[in-house]
Amino acid sequence: MAKITSVRGFRDILPDETPKWQHIEEKIREIFFNFGIQEIRIPVLEKTELFKKGIGEATDIVEKEMYTFLDRGNEYLTMRPEATASVIRAYIEHHIYEKDPVAKLFTIGPMFRRERPQKGRFRQFHQINVEFLGQEDPRTDAELMSMLMHLLGEVGLDNLKLEINSLGCDKCRPAFREKVTGFLKDKKENLCEDCRRRLVTNPLRIFDCKNESCRKIISGAPVTLDFICDECKTHFERLKEYLGTLHVPFVINTKMVRGLDYYTRTAFEITTQSLRAQNAVTGGGRYDGLVQMLGGPDISGIGFAIGFDRLISMIPDTDGQDTGNPNIFIAALGNKAQNFAFSLCNTLRLAGIRAEMDFSNRSLKSQMKRSNKLNCSHTLIIGEKEMEEGAAQIRNMGDGTQESVDINDTGSIVEQLTVKGNSQSNW
Ligand code: HAM
Repeated sequence: MAKITSVRGFRDILPDETPKWQHIEEKIREIFFNFGIQEIRIPVLEKTELFKKGIGEATDIVEKEMYTFLDRGNEYLTMRPEATASVIRAYIEHHIYEKDPVAKLFTIGPMFRRERPQKGRFRQFHQINVEFLGQEDPRTDAELMSMLMHLLGEVGLDNLKLEINSLGCDKCRPAFREKVTGFLKDKKENLCEDCRRRLVTNPLRIFDCKNESCRKIISGAPVTLDFICDECKTHFERLKEYLGTLHVPFVINTKMVRGLDYYTRTAFEITTQSLRAQNAVTGGGRYDGLVQMLGGPDISGIGFAIGFDRLISMIPDTDGQDTGNPNIFIAALGNKAQNFAFSLCNTLRLAGIRAEMDFSNRSLKSQMKRSNKLNCSHTLIIGEKEMEEGAAQIRNMGDGTQESVDINDTGSIVEQLTVKGNSQSNW
């Protein structure tokens, strides 16, 4: 029979890989805790309208990449392609701003985009998403980026390149848009089909196009920084100053527009040399109009999302990672010893010891082999004689030393194992 495989672009993260994910997540959660960023958990499924409105109808995500379906209740639903719109929906829906408009929120989980799968690009991928709400001051932007650079360094990335730009605001963007449209008008014939359409719907999206001919054309286009209003200019100048104060190195990328329509003013991306340039490990920006656009009060925000899959692929594997190896293997010979071991295994587990045994009642040699295979730190051998005497040898698999234990005194077994060589993670 033909095997049923996973869906293209959706992948399994196998038990060998999960310790790395867990370790990074733990570390990141610790950093978020220190920075006062609270966790919010949001649903995977939302009303399609949320993303159309939030991300923008004329973005690649909304136009081509969303997993959208008509629910049996005759309502269009979408598997979230990103988290920002959902976090803001929840912030508004639960009136979080009434208690305190300033909120620092994070969420970690899978996102779904029907992109062409390739290295570092999946259809189900994971993001570590942070949103700072209620603060317009550029110090917030600098603080957020400084924390992000610190975080990426802490989990083991180096050669980080932070690129920033300002996309202006509702006041100054129309003039810029017009300028770009004017610039592209007589070059229309050489644009791809998508960009010809974007010229009418959303000309700024042309900056994002991957098509070589469009890229060449757009490289000569006007840039936002030459058109932003005085307020946006001041915001950007102060941001650069504060990044300097916090010793965060950055470069200005005047062509970066980001692929989502909600951005205003600050936009940024971080790449590392270990990934190709277009594969940013993280991206984000300010979205001062989004809360209001989604039906809430006029509250500003800025955030970012780290591509968790990309982050993981850039961090080297470390030997000795904690793969959940058992602390003890109980090799039990004969029915009586097997029954005893079955119960002892359970008692040890309840006491916090990772214990394993083999139910097949095979020879001592094969049970020892199994213990080695599972990489147990200790093995306890119980046969008929040990059952009669109530004592057995506990062997340290690392150095081969043995010690006698009272097999009916689980407390002392636990003590031995926890004091002597509970397998520690090297992460
Ligand atoms: P984004 O740039 O669309 O921004 O995604 C952020 C990061 O998610 C990317 O830099 C990349 O590392 C990762 N990513 C995106 N698509 C894929 C994919 N198909 N496969 C693997 N990784 C991927 C956002 O999503 C915004 N919501 C970020 C944000 C938060 N802005 C403000 N707040």
